Amino acid sequence: MSTSKVLFTPTLTANVSRVASRGLVTSTATATGLRAGYAATNPYSRRNFSLSRKAQLEFFPPPKNLPHIKTTPPTWPHPDASDSQLKSIEIAHRECRTLSDKTAYNMVRLLRWGTDLVTGYRHDPNRPYVMNERKWLIRFIFLETVAGVPGMVGGMLRHFRSLRRMKRDNGWIETLLEDAYNERMHLLTFLKMAEPGWFMKLMILGAQGVFSNGFFLAYLVSPKTCHRFVGYLEEEATKTYTYAIEDLENGKLPAWENLDAPEIAVKYWNMPEGHRSMKDLLLYIRADEAKHREIHHTLGNLNQAEDPNPFVSVYNDPAKPHPGKGFEHIKPKGWEREEVI
Ligand SMILES: [Fe+2]
Ligand SMILES: [Fe+2]
Repeated sequence: MSTSKVLFTPTLTANVSRVASRGLVTSTATATGLRAGYAATNPYSRRNFSLSRKAQLEFFPPPKNLPHIKTTPPTWPHPDASDSQLKSIEIAHRECRTLSDKTAYNMVRLLRWGTDLVTGYRHDPNRPYVMNERKWLIRFIFLETVAGVPGMVGGMLRHFRSLRRMKRDNGWIETLLEDAYNERMHLLTFLKMAEPGWFMKLMILGAQGVFSNGFFLAYLVSPKTCHRFVGYLEEEATKTYTYAIEDLENGKLPAWENLDAPEIAVKYWNMPEGHRSMKDLLLYIRADEAKHREIHHTLGNLNQAEDPNPFVSVYNDPAKPHPGKGFEHIKPKGWEREEVI
């Protein structure tokens, strides 16, 4: 595959022209970076629109037939979710109540606008349809590389705070690290179906540099605003996966209709027999995003310094609905402090 073909596909050129025509300061490299990443819509036929060699994608496979180790299971096994729980997830929005909420929400809107622009994403029924399997995968991969940052940074800072102040953390760190782990599993799953090009890799590097440092500083200043920010970000993630599922159901993504979920996904989500399709995978991931939405909106309602983490707590009255690790009582707008502490 020649470099020129990688950089100048028709859709890419159209997107660059669209960006340029809007008079925005977005470099061609930025737009092409996201476009250049090739996402295979069928794992069994890999076309290389990318400069990446297939071998690079094998991201350190575990060595086989070790003399002492049989298997290395995940530290955070995914909680089971029933079909009705997966299908009951809905788009939701928690109204802004404070200046901190408004700041968080406006930051998310700004980020979403920028990401939509450079990834060529549109979901406006009044405009010609532009999303296909490849574009969805580019968007998923890019977003998941960013989504794994807040949980790890928040968990790390709370860990440091506990050491520095010689105080207990009350159970937040593990949930935040589990959140980051879950997002990374989303990424690893999509990487089994896609092959990002070097421009996309460069974009991911830049985005991680900016976002992780920005989030680190913001979390030091106002962790409450940061959790609200992630809550709103997860509202957008839930929306994105809902639209992708709708596209699949409406026949707009034919290559995914009979596609099986990769093995890594079947194992991680413990997907039951007969529920291992691409659509099932998107349903699982959407439920995870809705769970993150609930977790971060709830954490944003709490006293950051003192309150225990309600998602790992044992309750006086276990029969009463309360937050937990699973999908039994999903609250799209989070739990109010009075309901759980
Ligand atoms: Fe995710
Ligand atoms: Fe998420």
